[in-house]
Amino acid sequence: MHKNIIPDGFLWGGAVASNQLEGGYLEDGKGLSSVDILPAGDHRKQYLGNPPSLELNDEFFYPSHQSIDFYHRYKEDIALFAEMGFKCFRLSIAWVRIFPSGDDIIPNEAGLKFYDDVFDECLKYSIEPLVTIQHFDTPLELSKKYGGWRSRMLIGFFENYCNVIFNRYKDKVKYWLTFNEINMILHEPFIGGGITIGKDENPLQIKYQSAHNQLVASALAVKACHQIIPDAIIGCMLAAGNTYPHTAHPNDIFMALEKDRESYFFTDVQVRGYYPSYTKRFFEENDIKINITKEDELILINNLVDYVSFSYYSSRCISANKSVFDKLVTTNAFESIRNEYLEYSEWDWAIDPIGLRITMNQIYDRYQKPLFIVENGLGANDILENDTVNDDYRIKYMKEHLAQMKEGIKDGVELLGYTSWGPIDLVSAGSGQMTKRYGFIYVDLDNNGNGSLKRYKKKSFDWYKEVIASNGEIL
Ligand code: BG6
Repeated sequence: MHKNIIPDGFLWGGAVASNQLEGGYLEDGKGLSSVDILPAGDHRKQYLGNPPSLELNDEFFYPSHQSIDFYHRYKEDIALFAEMGFKCFRLSIAWVRIFPSGDDIIPNEAGLKFYDDVFDECLKYSIEPLVTIQHFDTPLELSKKYGGWRSRMLIGFFENYCNVIFNRYKDKVKYWLTFNEINMILHEPFIGGGITIGKDENPLQIKYQSAHNQLVASALAVKACHQIIPDAIIGCMLAAGNTYPHTAHPNDIFMALEKDRESYFFTDVQVRGYYPSYTKRFFEENDIKINITKEDELILINNLVDYVSFSYYSSRCISANKSVFDKLVTTNAFESIRNEYLEYSEWDWAIDPIGLRITMNQIYDRYQKPLFIVENGLGANDILENDTVNDDYRIKYMKEHLAQMKEGIKDGVELLGYTSWGPIDLVSAGSGQMTKRYGFIYVDLDNNGNGSLKRYKKKSFDWYKEVIASNGEIL
């Protein structure tokens, strides 16, 4: 008898981040986070990396402040996810709804209650919540007072936040992950770690010390989760996408290996519990001296993640030959050479379904831990016509990626689930635009915050519903 490739219980669904869809940015006692000071438009790029100021500016438009107003519309939105048959909904908790300044002693009950309501709504439809503990939103006060994740003080504040949410939601949430795209701190340090870097500082020193602090905090979250919710699993999360060498020249091959290590450094520590051997030379040559205590080493080795989750949008391509550098494109903050064998999205992100299979195999070969694809999708400029969007291009993109995901499973990769990015249109993290849409559900809102916020089903809505109903048999 024909047996489906995708295992029973596979967690199909969608993924979002609180700051990209909730809005309600000062409601019910919420504090400001790094994301709340990211403007739309040309200034955004600078703010993502190293903002010139940590204050709001009246001249800017801040898309996260209203976003798509999930804060008030979550019931309607979760009902639509349930209609598509979601088994899982990945969302993040905004730390600043729970601790408005990040270092408060008493948690904010209204913030805790909001997520209780959201989780209850999911569970009503038997949708498993998968919770990201920090998705790019370091409390702004922690950046102002302590310099963000460069300070070890944040480890303790984060641990406290984790203890509170694990205790509060222990009966409702069984899937957790610690830091969204933890390697993003190397590429967009402010959004990755709430850090700003001075002109006279060694950027690598600051980034890697901050990364170390997050890695210790992540391990402490694993420890607390295992203690407080023994039947839960908790993972790490990587902005993944394998690196191809531009040519077969050994210099290109080694450079691609080094580029992949730059990302795998984080998961190497989270999965294996110690710093990989290749960091020794890299740190020495770049004058990086990390403050790692004996206690840190014990925390890291004793608290390994249960699974590895990752986002996959594209592969990357690298060359040791400087003369091909004029062909660079930036995808999800990663610089890459334009790959002539691939097509590109409207935002110039490479479309590489086979890269997903390669990435799955690479990560699984490295760790032999269950994997979870927690982000993948196509950002496109959708046009609403007759109350729907004919998004055949999105269906094509996803079909091809899901076909490769199935190949990866056939290759032997243990995969827990697939949550596509932005099942409902939301604010783009990189560009701040609404017009970069990923959803199966269209939201009537433009780049300047104008629109009715009404939701419309796109063509892909029914397509994804059938994919889930057939457990991936019908693509
Ligand atoms: C990932 C993030 O980097 O990519 C998301 O985890 C983000 O927050 C997604 O939205 C897509 O990127 P963008 O820039 O198109 O929103």
